[in-house]
Amino acid sequence: MRQPSLTSTHSYQALANHAAKAKEWQMRDLFAQDPQRFERLSVEAAGLFLDYSKNRLDGRTLELLKALAQERGVERLRDAMFNGDKINLTENRAVLHTALRAPRDKQITVDGQDVTADVHAVLDHMKTFTDSVRSGEWRGHTGKEITDVINIGIGGSDLGPKMVCLALRQFAHPRLTMHFVSNVDGHDMDAALSRVNPETTLFIIASKTFTTAETMMNANTARAWFLQQAPEDALAKHFVAVSTNVEAIKTFGIDPQNMFPFWDWVGGRYSVWSAIGLPVALCVGFGYFSDFLAGAHALDEHFRTAPIEQNLPIILALVGFWNRDFLECGSVSIAPYHQDLSRFAAYLQQLDMESNGKRVTRAGDPIDYATGPVIWGDVGTNGQHAYFQLLHQGTDVTPIDFIAALRPAHEFHNHHAALLANCFAQSEAFMKGKTADEVRQDLQGMDAAEIERLVPHKTFPGNRPSNTILMDYLNPATLGALIALYEHKVFVQGVLWDVNSFDQWGVELGKVLAKKIEAELNGEANPGAHDSSTNGLIARAKAAV
Ligand code: F6P
Repeated sequence: MRQPSLTSTHSYQALANHAAKAKEWQMRDLFAQDPQRFERLSVEAAGLFLDYSKNRLDGRTLELLKALAQERGVERLRDAMFNGDKINLTENRAVLHTALRAPRDKQITVDGQDVTADVHAVLDHMKTFTDSVRSGEWRGHTGKEITDVINIGIGGSDLGPKMVCLALRQFAHPRLTMHFVSNVDGHDMDAALSRVNPETTLFIIASKTFTTAETMMNANTARAWFLQQAPEDALAKHFVAVSTNVEAIKTFGIDPQNMFPFWDWVGGRYSVWSAIGLPVALCVGFGYFSDFLAGAHALDEHFRTAPIEQNLPIILALVGFWNRDFLECGSVSIAPYHQDLSRFAAYLQQLDMESNGKRVTRAGDPIDYATGPVIWGDVGTNGQHAYFQLLHQGTDVTPIDFIAALRPAHEFHNHHAALLANCFAQSEAFMKGKTADEVRQDLQGMDAAEIERLVPHKTFPGNRPSNTILMDYLNPATLGALIALYEHKVFVQGVLWDVNSFDQWGVELGKVLAKKIEAELNGEANPGAHDSSTNGLIARAKAAV
């Protein structure tokens, strides 16, 4: 259905008028005017607390953003997603990652098929399999226990399981080392294979389509490497596969007993909850994997039922939308103050940028407003000593999401106090900045001319927006909720921007061209088929071999 263009809506225009004034506001003043600002602009659900008070907005901004959400049909489309309607219009698919974490007794059907029953049948298979590997009952072909798991996948078939296995390090099985090979660069495979023994290694070939070039090349290389050291009938003990493409798994030669299917209504970047999460279940055990799903489900229920003004993902989305479209912020930095979330920004990059990096509406009309921002970041405090300089004093304003756990899973309590102090200090510094007069105060006693020379360099503009997300501990349930929070934030923003957040046609062109160039690099002649730059680069590569 063709929506009225975003910029023509009543609520967007009201926001645009309001933004003209809001651009003049200083957050220092907003805090001074309202002692209750923190209480007013923070919400809590599913074990997560969100403080969004350090943004350039007020109560009126929120009212207008809420009106926009209603006018754009956020609640209607949310319900359509949960119901299994085919909201992925360009692929004619339902979008039901929420069904992957729904309890067994929840009725969800797609095309007359009972989705929950299918999901739980696979979960039961995952439990049996992972229990037997973890207990040591499942053995390699020479009778030894599995010590290493190599997940071969890319994009959503890599980023989620890898990020979660790292994040839940505290819960990991002591015997199992997890490895992730994603890149077609042979160095990735070489590094993993050089660390493992084929007799004690389990390979998971993870690919929604089972056609992705990188994954297929890596899978074939792993298979060939394995068969150099083991007989063909040993494959069944060492290779399992996760995919929606059951036929392709069979053709690859994997034992049907060792297949873990999922469905086309699970987007790759939303698939960590499906059998794509098999490395997670192996690493932390099925019990904790279930807690991970339950944490996400709790957030789903909150998203589905809470009113807009208390709805964490909707608020996070609205604030991000405000920063992107009205305060012209082109990127968002993700700053987890938790070392175990070291891959979280990389994970969110795919989730957000592959979903909302779009330039036409769901009806295919060109877009004349800003859509998805660039997502990037790294853990605190490391980022502070690298790129925070630009965030504090650079010419771009970059909103930041600070993420922290109030309690550590280690006993170095002085470290944790230092970590949290840095996290809170940074959001305070971004908000307050430092005025020229404050700098002068600091420099008192110095030569007056020298002070004036230094003042512009030591002044911080402040007024830079951030959110802070806190949880008690980082554990399977809070991590599940945190990921679901961002999934739904991305969904809501996609609705506001009227883009299809569930396709990714933009990755296709490069794939097609790479196939052609690969053939040329392997000797097929096709002179002059490209521009002079590409031809020149191909020629140099050919000359080097
Ligand atoms: O090329 C992009 C993409 O399709 C992602 O959306 C996906 O997560 C990734 O490739 C891997 O795809 P697959 O799981 O089918 O191998």
